Amino acid sequence: MAKHDSVFIKSPSLFFLILLLFEANHIEGAGRLNQWESGIRLPTDKDNEPEELDEQQVGTRWAVLVAGSSGYGNYRHQADVCHAYQLLRKGGLKEENIVVFMYDDIAMHELNPRPGVIINHPQGDDVYAGVPKDYTGEHVTAANLYAVLLGDKDALSGGSGKVIDSKPNDRIFMYYSDHGGPGVLGMPNMPFLYAMDFLDVLKKKHAAGTYKEMVLYVEACESGSIFEGIMPKYLDIYVTTASNAQESSWGTYCPGMEPPPPPEFITCLGDLYSVAWMEDSETHNLKRETVEQQYESVKERTSNFNADAFGGSHVMEYGNTSIKPEKLYLYQGFDPATVNLPPNELGPNTPTEAVNQRDADILFLWHMYKNSEDGLKKTEILKQITETKRHRIHLDGSIDLIGTLLYGPAKGSAILKSVRETGLPLVDDWQCLKSVVRLFETHCGSLTQYGMKHMRAFANICNSGVSQALMEEACTAACNGHGPIQWYPSNQGYSA
Ligand SMILES: *[C@@H]1O[C@H](CO)[C@@H](O)[C@H](O)[C@H]1NC(C)=O
Repeated sequence: MAKHDSVFIKSPSLFFLILLLFEANHIEGAGRLNQWESGIRLPTDKDNEPEELDEQQVGTRWAVLVAGSSGYGNYRHQADVCHAYQLLRKGGLKEENIVVFMYDDIAMHELNPRPGVIINHPQGDDVYAGVPKDYTGEHVTAANLYAVLLGDKDALSGGSGKVIDSKPNDRIFMYYSDHGGPGVLGMPNMPFLYAMDFLDVLKKKHAAGTYKEMVLYVEACESGSIFEGIMPKYLDIYVTTASNAQESSWGTYCPGMEPPPPPEFITCLGDLYSVAWMEDSETHNLKRETVEQQYESVKERTSNFNADAFGGSHVMEYGNTSIKPEKLYLYQGFDPATVNLPPNELGPNTPTEAVNQRDADILFLWHMYKNSEDGLKKTEILKQITETKRHRIHLDGSIDLIGTLLYGPAKGSAILKSVRETGLPLVDDWQCLKSVVRLFETHCGSLTQYGMKHMRAFANICNSGVSQALMEEACTAACNGHGPIQWYPSNQGYSA
C-alpha cells in the first residue's frame, strides 16, 4: 500500500480520499492461512531426531513481553503480547518467569465491543484473561524494561517488582511489538527506547553471566535499524526483526481488509510478523521445529509472499546465528497438545492484507468517524483526524525545511534521506542523535509515533557533523510558532 501521509486534505473530501485509498487496497479472495491441513505425525515417529535435553540441562526459561503503545487504535500491539503470554504459558513457562509490559487500556476500553476480552485473530479466543499486570500504565517505560532485564529491583519504579532473575544456564526469550523508527522503539511513556541504550543493557546482562542464550523477536517499523551494524555475536543473542532498517512493518486483521476482524471491531487485531510467529508456534511441534525453521516460515509469511499489493516487509536476523539450529521449545516451551503436529511445514501461500503501521491510526479514526451516529462526536473525531494530519504535515515540512537550511535546497532532502550501506549503524554518535531530537522537539513539537520515521534524518544530521548550535538555529527558523499546544513535548515528555 502506498504511503499517503503527505496528502494535504480538508474535510469533507478527506474522507472520500481516504476511502478511495483504502478501497484501492481492498483485494478480494485472500483467505486465512490454514496451517492445520498439514500432515499428521505419530508420537512414535521419531526418525533421526536428536535426543531432547532433559529439563535439568535446559535451565529455567524466562520471557519478557513488551507492548510499546497505548490507545485503542493500537489494540493490536497489546493483543499480540497477550497472545504471546498465553502461548508461553501453554508451553509450560511459569507466570513467575514471564514479565509483561502492557499499558492495559484495551480490555476495558469504551470502544472495545467485547468488554474484558482481547482477541488476536478474527476467530480467536480471548487472550487477555490471566495475563499478569506486571508493568502497566505509567510504569511501562524503557527504564523499567532495562531494570527488569538486568534483574535490578532497585532501579524499578512501580510495577509488580518481577524481574528476570536468571542464572547462567537459563534461556531468555524476549518479544516486543509496537511502532518504531530508525534507531528507536516506541514506549507508551516517554522517552523512546534507543538502540544503543538497549544494547548497553544487553551487554551488561551478558557481562553479569546470567543467561546462556537469548532469542529476541522485534516487530516495529524499521526494526532492523535497532541492530544493524551494532549487534555483536559474542552476546549469544539471536534476533529477528519484522522489517529491515528502512521499511515499515504491517498491521493485519484490519477492518475492510481480508481477512477482516468481526464486524464490530474498528481496529486491527494483530501485526503481520507477530501473528506469523505465534500462529506458526501454535501449529507445530516445538520440540522438533528449530529457531531457523520458524525464521524461514515467518520471513515468507511476513513478506506476504511478495504480493506487493498486500503490503509486507523483509524479516531480518542479527546477532549470533549459531543459535538457529536449536529447537524452539528451549525458548517458547512445549505444549503437549502439539505432539502430533509436524516440526514445520509452510502453510499455503495465501497473502493476508495488511496496513502500514503508520497509517493504522488514521484508518482507526476514520472507522470511528464512519461508525459514529452522534453528530457531536463525529465533529470531535473529525477534528482529531484533521489535527493528526496537520501535525504530520507540519513535521514532514519542518524536517524538509531544516534540511534546506542546513545543506541548501539542492542537497537537503538527499542528505536527510540517505541510507548507509548494510552493516553500518544508523548513526555513529548516539548521544548526538538524542540531542538533535531534543532540539527538534523543543522548537517543533513532539515527534509522536508517526514522526519516528524521521529519525534517519536526525541521524544523518549527526553523521554529517552539523553542530548543535547550527541545528538549533535551523529548528528555530523552521518551526517558529509551531501550532497547537497539544503537541508540545512539555505535555508528554521528550522522546529522547
Ligand atoms: C555464538 O553462540 C554459541 C552458542 O551459545 C557460542 O558457543 C559461540 O561462541 C557464539 N559465537 C560467538 C562468535 O561469540
